[in-house]
Amino acid sequence: MNIAVIGTGYVGLVSGVCFSEIGNQVICVDNNGAKVEMLNEGNVPIYEPGLKELMVSNMQAGRLSFTSNIAEAISQSDIIFIAVGTPSLPSGEANLSYVEQVAIEIGSHIESYKIIVTKSTVPVGTNDRVRELISSISSQPFDVASVPEFLREGSAVKDTLNPDRIVIGTNSDRAIKTLKKLHRPLTENLIITDIRSAEMIKYASNAFLATKISFINEISNICEKVGADVTRVAEGMGYDKRIGASFLKAGIGYGGSCFPKDTQALIQIAGMVDYDFRLLKSVVQVNQDQRFQVIHKLEEALGSLKGKTIAVWGLAFKPDTDDVRDAPAIDIIQHLSDAGAVIKAYDPIATANFRKEVDVASISWEENPLQAAEGADALCVLTEWKEFAHIDLTELAEIMKDPIMIDGRNLYSAEQVQASNLQYYSVGRPGLTKLEGKAAAII
Ligand code: UDX
Repeated sequence: MNIAVIGTGYVGLVSGVCFSEIGNQVICVDNNGAKVEMLNEGNVPIYEPGLKELMVSNMQAGRLSFTSNIAEAISQSDIIFIAVGTPSLPSGEANLSYVEQVAIEIGSHIESYKIIVTKSTVPVGTNDRVRELISSISSQPFDVASVPEFLREGSAVKDTLNPDRIVIGTNSDRAIKTLKKLHRPLTENLIITDIRSAEMIKYASNAFLATKISFINEISNICEKVGADVTRVAEGMGYDKRIGASFLKAGIGYGGSCFPKDTQALIQIAGMVDYDFRLLKSVVQVNQDQRFQVIHKLEEALGSLKGKTIAVWGLAFKPDTDDVRDAPAIDIIQHLSDAGAVIKAYDPIATANFRKEVDVASISWEENPLQAAEGADALCVLTEWKEFAHIDLTELAEIMKDPIMIDGRNLYSAEQVQASNLQYYSVGRPGLTKLEGKAAAII
């Protein structure tokens, strides 16, 4: 099939590459000329394992190309995917101006029947708006469909080529037939539904996953007070198929480009129809508070943070990405700096992006984890990068001024911790922390 993908951000680029990989002819469009040039030279602007290799091999096979000429891409394609950004407005609402701009461009250039598919995460009703905009400009035949994207950063290629399901929302039999054929090589689980339900499935899925994370984080806070181990609690819960084992890892809360934005947007969508989504508002608040558990534990261990040197391992919102959008590390480092601490930060690949987000004077950017930890009064683990998991904790404790570790991701096992000299605080595992005595006293 001939496909145009408009927008070469995370979703657009990965979708375009994967559609070409399964044998389609794909043109990806972006209005950023420098980015298009970079892509045409075989370079990927994001860090995503496996993406570059797949992109280059499909370009060499003649199935994938990049352009900033939207008219040319539209005229050569039967299916047009809209995959531009929908960033949050200050109110939390999704900013739809990019989607609307693309709809206007499509309306201006369409010359024969097309299927217009929205991949961007958009509020319920947006695809109807896309239809309205196009038909206000053009009388050519077209159908619209919502096919939301569920890929995760760091495993985007794998997720796109092996999705749990593909949701196809449209009221057109012709579009259903074509989109089924396009997606059939990826999965048998094709959910065919109306446009508004498809739009809602994406928000409801992300909100539910965010809810699981905030739920287990609250359980972890209670575990710390009653002397239970949240990792065992999550394991015991996860065997129940109705609950499921995934997304029950307690930590410092979710970040990234999707959960924070989509939860806020769904609260807004509900508000527009006079519905107060109380549960989701709490999920967001719990997530915000959870970041500061790291600070509370530091204060518990050190007292005042003024003048203290704090090492930070991990700046990305999760491992295997250089993305720092809404990363918990941003709020935590800002707070440490405001409290008068001196920060020594290290991340394997996200430092450059992080430096653009945070402007604090009292921070140094270190070359490796041990250099960051050397001479520190305490160390905080904020991202569970694999390279941190194998560090010798005994050696680590020796090079620190005070061997205090706040492990925000429960990266280390009881054996590793107990073999070391570390004063270790984790998340919801009080048996391994200095809070143990307190928990016993409360009970
Ligand atoms: C998410 C969704 O998973 C994906 O379906 C959607 O398309 C985009 O948003 P992503 O943001 O790439 O993907 O990351 P994900 O792996 O889902 O993690 C999100 C955040 O939740 C991370 O900050 C992670 O550290 C946190 N998380 C995840 C937890 O704290 N505990 C968990 O058990 C799982």
